This record gives sequence, C-alpha cells and structure tokens, in this order.
Amino acid sequence: MTAVTIPPEITEAMKKVKHTIVVLSGKGGVGKTTVATNLAMSFAKKNLQTGILDVDIYGPNVPKLLGLEGQHPAADGEKIRPIMGPLGVKVMSMGFLLQRNDDAVAWRGPLVARAISQFLSDVKWEELDVLVVDLPPGTGDEILSILQLIPDMSGVIIVSTPQEVAVLDASRAIQLVKKMNLPVLGIVENMAEFVCPSCGQVHKLFGEGAAKKASDTYSVEHLGTLPFDPRVISLSDEGTPFVVKEPNSKVAKDFEILVQKLITKISIQV
Ligand SMILES: Nc1ncnc2c1ncn2[C@@H]1O[C@H](COP(=O)(O)OP(=O)(O)OP(=O)(O)O)[C@@H](O)[C@H]1O
Ligand SMILES: [Mg+2]
Repeated sequence: MTAVTIPPEITEAMKKVKHTIVVLSGKGGVGKTTVATNLAMSFAKKNLQTGILDVDIYGPNVPKLLGLEGQHPAADGEKIRPIMGPLGVKVMSMGFLLQRNDDAVAWRGPLVARAISQFLSDVKWEELDVLVVDLPPGTGDEILSILQLIPDMSGVIIVSTPQEVAVLDASRAIQLVKKMNLPVLGIVENMAEFVCPSCGQVHKLFGEGAAKKASDTYSVEHLGTLPFDPRVISLSDEGTPFVVKEPNSKVAKDFEILVQKLITKISIQV
C-alpha cells in the first residue's frame, strides 16, 4: 500500500481540531450516519466543541438528518465556514455544495480523491475538541483515499449490525484500517435489539454473537450496542437528532455510555 502524503493545506485547515474520529462500516445502510450525527450531538451535550464532517459524496445525508438541508456555507476569504447545527455543532457536508440535494455525483476514482482533498482543505473549522467524520459505505479505493487524507486521526469506529454479512464487511473494514496503520477504536453494534413496547419482549432482529466474535478475532474493542428504535427513523426524516429530542431514551443513554468510553479511550479533555 503506497503511503500518501497529506497535503499541507489539509493539515493547516484541521490543525485546531484536537480529536478526529472516523465512522466506517463496510456494509451500507447499517447506521453510520445515524451513529455519526448522534455521536456528535452526544459529545456536544458534554459541552465539548464538536464538528461533524460528511464526506459521503454519493449520499451526503448529514444535512437532512440535522435539519440543515438547503443551507449554503458562507465564504471566509478563500475558505468556507461550517454551518452551525443543533447544540452548536459545526457541520460541513458535500451535500451543502451540491446544487440540489438529489444531485447524483458521477465522479470516479482519482477525481473523487482530488475533490475530497480540495474539500478537506477548504473548510475553516477553527477550534474543535472533537470532529466526527462520516464516510460513504464500502472498503474500496475511495474509502482508502479518504482515510489517507485525514491528518492525525484518533481512530476509526466500525459500525455494524449484528448480522453476519454486515460483520463480515465490518471485518474487512477493520483489516483495511489496520493495514493502513490507523487505530481502530472499536466496533459499535447498531440495531442490536428491539424491545416490543407493548409486551416488553426482546427481539434480536439481526441475530447475535457475530460482532463479539469479530472483535475477538481482530482484537478490537466491542464499544457497545445500540437498540433498534423506530423513532430514530421518523426523527431522522424530520431532521431532528434523536439524542437531542429523546434524551431519556435507551438509545440516548447508550450513546452517553459510548461517548464516555471514547472520552476515556482517546483522552479527551472534558
Ligand atoms: N438504531 C436505529 N434504530 C432504528 N433505525 C435506525 C437505527 N440506526 C439507523 N437506523 C435507520 O437505518 C437506516 C440506515 O441508517 P443510516 O443512513 O444511518 O446508515 P448508513 O450506514 O449511513 O447508510 P449508507 O451506507 O447509505 O451511508 C435509516 O433509515 C436510519 O434511520
Ligand atoms: Mg450514511
């Protein structure tokens, strides 16, 4: 694997960011963007200056999930300023730069890497305690080139559902990150169970055990599980971050536990 030198403009643009956490999955649709946005909100609830960066060029959903669709970043000299989201979280997304939110980006290979490199150098973040980065699905060349462009990252969180096929893709993601000598912070199992609101019965929607096995096989921490909650879906569609609207829910409490683990693991000053 050829090492890519991070352009100095990117390092400069991100130099006041203390901790960068990247959210990756392998398989699509397992909840990366949901985890990334709610994780950012949960860090902000701890009074940490937080940002979220959406590098998904094909499906930049962060503006939608945070109710910021249609906004356009202001120019600041040669740079652009992040949009101020809920709880003061600074938000930047490829979605803000596309003409229409259903624009299909048809860039390929090297053009993608160049566009992302430009994007990363152009954002004026200023001081941040934590920046959460949401990536597109997959473990291919594009993911690799994005990972190679992020300076001094604290590590990668791998999101998976408990389903074996999702864990298999997550394992590929773990191996990719390890091969790049980047730290894997651990696996988060999303949509692990559903508690029936009427009878209280627990349903393991996607099975169980596979993620634990993968975390043992690859010696990465199992950072926790998040339940399936149908309100996550409706609130996402409304553009309201779940952990802000439903702070007493099990999902919000599990995010609090996750954030606390990460604060300890990467020594974030609270
Ligand atoms: N814990 C949860 N409970 C209920 N629904 C959830 C949960 N997590 C995610 N979802 C729903 O699952 C779907 C996929 O989530 P999301 O968009 O976050 O996945 P993704 O991994 O970012 O997808 P992509 O690979 O397309 O970027 C969404 O409809 C989201 O609302
Ligand atoms: Mg996503």
